[in-house]
Parts: sequence; C-alpha cells; structure tokens
Amino acid sequence: MSKKILLTGAAGFIGFHTAAALKQRGNHVVGLDNFNSYYDPLLKRKRVALLKQMGIEVIEGDVTDAELLKQIFQKEEWTHVLHLAAQAGVRYARKHPQSYLKNNLEAFLCLLEQLKLSPHISLVYASSSSVYGTNEKVPFSVDDRTDCPANLYAATKKANELMAYSYHHMYGLRTTGLRYFTVYGPWGRPDMAYFLFTDAIMKEKPIVLFNHGKMWRDFTYIDDIVEGTLAALERVPQGVFNLGNHQSESLADFVSILEEALGKKAHVEFAECPPDEILTTYADISLSQEKLAFTPKVPLKEGLYKFVSWYKEFSLTNA
Ligand SMILES: NC(=O)c1ccc[n+]([C@@H]2O[C@H](COP(=O)([O-])OP(=O)(O)OC[C@H]3O[C@@H](n4cnc5c(N)ncnc54)[C@H](O)[C@@H]3O)[C@@H](O)[C@H]2O)c1
Repeated sequence: MSKKILLTGAAGFIGFHTAAALKQRGNHVVGLDNFNSYYDPLLKRKRVALLKQMGIEVIEGDVTDAELLKQIFQKEEWTHVLHLAAQAGVRYARKHPQSYLKNNLEAFLCLLEQLKLSPHISLVYASSSSVYGTNEKVPFSVDDRTDCPANLYAATKKANELMAYSYHHMYGLRTTGLRYFTVYGPWGRPDMAYFLFTDAIMKEKPIVLFNHGKMWRDFTYIDDIVEGTLAALERVPQGVFNLGNHQSESLADFVSILEEALGKKAHVEFAECPPDEILTTYADISLSQEKLAFTPKVPLKEGLYKFVSWYKEFSLTNA
C-alpha cells in the first residue's frame, strides 16, 4: 500500500536520499525543513532543488512551530511521520548547547504532542549510535545499557527514545527509533570526518586524528541506511534498532582508502582524544536483521570511492 509520509529534515543528508527513494517507490512524501545554517544552507538548497525536480514539495518551516504543524496535519491524512530533523554533530554542543534543546527536545515534543491527536499515524525517528556513550562492550546491542552519554547530542537522542516510549505507553503511538551509525555518501554532511578529511587532503591541508589514530567507527553507506529506514516505515516495529554496517573500521585504514581514492597523501597530525568523542562504535544488527530484514551491502572501500567521485564532480561544478 502506498504511504503518505511527512518527512522532517528533508533538506538534510539522510532526509534527501530517503525522500527520493520513497518517491521512486510510489509513495506521497512531503518534506519539512528550516534550512538552518549549521552547515552551508546552499548544499541543502541544492538537494531540495533535486527533490523538487522529482515532484517532492519541501515546506520551509520549523518543527517547533506548533501552529505550522497543526496546519500540516490538517491539510493531509498522513500515514507516517519520518522525523530526521535535528541538531546533529557532537562538538557544536560545546558552544551551542541551546540548539540541541530546541531542535532535538522541543521539536520532538511538538511532534509527539501533534501525533497524540492522531495516534494511528506511525512515527519513525532518527536516534544515534552515540547513545552507547562510553560503553566498552562491543558490538553495541540494543539490549545494552545506554545511560552514560559522552556528550549533549547523545543525551538528547537518548531522551528522544524515552519520550517516544512514554507516548507509546500513554497514547498508543507506534514508534520506531533508528540508531544510525556514522552515515556517509554522496551529498553528505560537510561537518563529518569523511567530508572534512577529503576536503583537507584535496587542499593539501593537515588532518587531525584523535587518540593517535586508535579509533574505530562502524561506517554505514547511505543506500544501506535508506533501505533500513524504508523497511522501518513498512513494518514500524515498536522499539529501537541499530542501523550500522556491522564492521568496525580503524581510522588509519579509513584514511588509507581515502588517500587511494583521491590519489593524494594526507598530512596527518595527532591529538589527544577530547572527552566528547568516543573511541569505538560497532553495531550488533541481529534484531534489525530479524525485524527489518536489514542487510547492509556496501563495504567501506566501495562507498568511499562513490563519495569521492561525487565530491570531485560537486566541487568542480561549484568551484
Ligand atoms: N549522518 C549521520 O551519521 C547520523 C548518525 C546518527 C544519527 N543521525 C541522525 O539522523 C538525522 C539526519 O541526519 P543528517 O546526517 O541527515 O543531518 P542533517 O543535518 O544533514 O539533516 C538534518 C536536517 O534537519 C533540519 N532541521 C534541524 N532542526 C530543524 C527544525 N527545528 N525544524 C526543521 N528542520 C530542522 C536541518 O536544516 C537539516 O537539513 C538526525 O536526526 C541525526 O541526528 C545522523
């Protein structure tokens, strides 16, 4: 059955790809995004121009605007809300903590308050691998404790999961939380390491590796994330699920692949690991395999080559 989906954060990296995939599979999707300037809004505008070419409307507005939400919910009979809008990033919280309260907590509450009036509408929302915080046991399982967040971003994402559960319990909302693990790919986020490192290597500037490069990340290619998110919209299993590649890669290997793909050597500098960074992420995806048939397919090397090829073309046309 085709769905009617309100997708918040549609101008963002994951929102853009997911909106396009939903439309291609015959669903009605409308986006909502405030085009904030956490990173270059021009990139967001370019993504949305492509969505518009596909016939996808993106409303410019804020999820914390309760009046706007009311109008959007009166206008159409949504079957699902996919909530991806958020203040992402970890380090930005050092100087802009209020942005996390507004865009991650207040926005989520506004949406839940609206949804409690129409509890038949299913909610799928983005959580994050960062909720595992300073846990040392790997791989991270959804059965593990998540009460030691290493930064404010993680604390707000964990709070979202708890808020979703309470509205499920009180008002019968069906809610699926997706703990995304370091998502990368074309049209990606310029604040993330894969993008920053690519930029620096191309411009022959130094890159900084924390903890002398002894860090590991479960890098997940965007197409795999889109597949997992679409499966969540199809099935809406109540609870939280890991969407990761189930491969923890060392940053040193990651930099080597980037160097190979770019045909250039990186100038590496080492630094101590700041307390808001975590050393390892690694997803246990057994529950997602069982409930969402989630099977990530793209290995890091293949995905990074695809990112680099997009990056080169994008920088040429935008130089
Ligand atoms: N990319 C990753 O590696 C990753 C990992 C874990 C979790 N996540 C989560 O996935 C979601 C999507 O991430 P992304 O990488 O696409 O980030 P993104 O920053 O590219 O996209 C988020 C979008 O939300 C919009 N937005 C923010 N606050 C808003 C508000 N109050 N009202 C309306 N729009 C608002 C922004 O303008 C942006 O376009 C986020 O919730 C993020 O926390 C991402």
